[in-house]
Amino acid sequence: ATLSKVEDLLQPFRLSVEKLREVMSRLRKDIIRGLGKHTHKRAPVKMLPTFVRDTPDGTEKGDFLALDLGGTNFRVLHVRVEEDLQKMVKMDSKVCAIPQEIMLGTGEQLFDHIAVCLAEFLESLELKDQSLPLGFTFSFPCDQKDIDKSILIRWTKGFACSGVEGEDVVRLLREAIKRRGDYDIGSVAMVNDTVGTMMSCGYRDQRCEIGMIVGTGTNACYMEEMKNVKRVEGDEGRMCINTEWGGFGDDGSLRDIQTEFDVTVDKESINPGVHTFEKMISGMYLGEIVRLVLIKLAQDKLLFGGETSEALLTPESFETRYISEIEEEGTGLERAREILTDLGLTVGPGDCEIVHLVCDTLSTRSAQLCGAALAAITNRMRVTRGLERFQTTVGVDGTVYLKHPHYSERLEDTVRLLAPKCDISFLVSEDGSGKGAAMVTAVAQRLAIHST
Ligand code: BG6
Ligand code: GLC
Repeated sequence: ATLSKVEDLLQPFRLSVEKLREVMSRLRKDIIRGLGKHTHKRAPVKMLPTFVRDTPDGTEKGDFLALDLGGTNFRVLHVRVEEDLQKMVKMDSKVCAIPQEIMLGTGEQLFDHIAVCLAEFLESLELKDQSLPLGFTFSFPCDQKDIDKSILIRWTKGFACSGVEGEDVVRLLREAIKRRGDYDIGSVAMVNDTVGTMMSCGYRDQRCEIGMIVGTGTNACYMEEMKNVKRVEGDEGRMCINTEWGGFGDDGSLRDIQTEFDVTVDKESINPGVHTFEKMISGMYLGEIVRLVLIKLAQDKLLFGGETSEALLTPESFETRYISEIEEEGTGLERAREILTDLGLTVGPGDCEIVHLVCDTLSTRSAQLCGAALAAITNRMRVTRGLERFQTTVGVDGTVYLKHPHYSERLEDTVRLLAPKCDISFLVSEDGSGKGAAMVTAVAQRLAIHST
């Protein structure tokens, strides 16, 4: 009887194939709205032009710096691109912590902090006198005016630094470096992490024309026909579009699949009403949804002998990584017991199985929603290119996708079901998006040299 009551509570999280198909076709319409010259302003899916028109042609070369801000780690990299070998090598990299007070502080503090990390990195490599070109992975929605001019539309995920929204991020970085005065950088290319990921993978697989992230946040980019990119001059060739699909549903279009728990997570986040789709999918929110469901089950006397604990009642105490650990074959149930005990809960017979079921339900919904969104993109690419069948590779990154034991398989099953005429391979990016950001910088440099 307990199990069937638990099932009833979890039912709203289970999406039928018809529902997933509906989600896919709603996103298809939002993609068209987002691309439109006049309709994009009100569109929840922003479809941002990235000014990346070309994948690497193998003639790029040189030394580059890369910054990678907006995922779990802030990283600084030194990347070498070699012409003959047609390869990219990460020479060195360093992870710098970004303390919470900086994530929620002023823009000046944030960029000063970035400039310090870069200074220490250059110092340690004796590169301070070189002014190397820099690729900046900045994984937030930006209105790009050009490859080196990128206005932050709004913060997402855990960042909320004042004085940055509406400003050019390249200018803020350059100003912070100038304030120090002890080193300089060369030309800058701004890329979203999806774009960096696509380009990192693109060097290994020329068919890679989609980049997808399922990590702290979720998003995808893909190569769109220029003639459909109404906000940028020109009809020839293609341009990479950063969809910002995390914002899907912000106009209420996903209300029918949002549960009471999704509504609470949104309300209690630092940006209510923003990034509805992301909040049902990505790592920053998944653990929190599970926590709220567990509290409800305990209150309904279906778990933990009807008792909660102070820890369980504390926001963010159920980390998203626990979901991956609990779903691990063989060790998961034991791990569940440990986690729940550490949270101060009394674990009764059958409780670990129920918690496992909750995790499984939530991670499955996440993977299926992501799969439906990806299918909307590949189906569109197939149709706009007038192909009977479409073969492509998706470059992927993000802790949820990488660490969860069944995520990729569930996502792939969904895409296969919803995009039957597309043959899709998945490639995980090596060393994150930094190499891709360096590559974009290298391509931009090649094009700039050719045009002068
Ligand atoms: C990293 C990339 O590997 O993955 C980042 O280098 C990206 O650019 C990140 O933002 C996404 O995953 P997560 O889980 O760290 O948010
Ligand atoms: C958020 C950001 C987006 C980024 C994604 C994955 O959705 O708005 O720019 O790509 O997270 O990190």
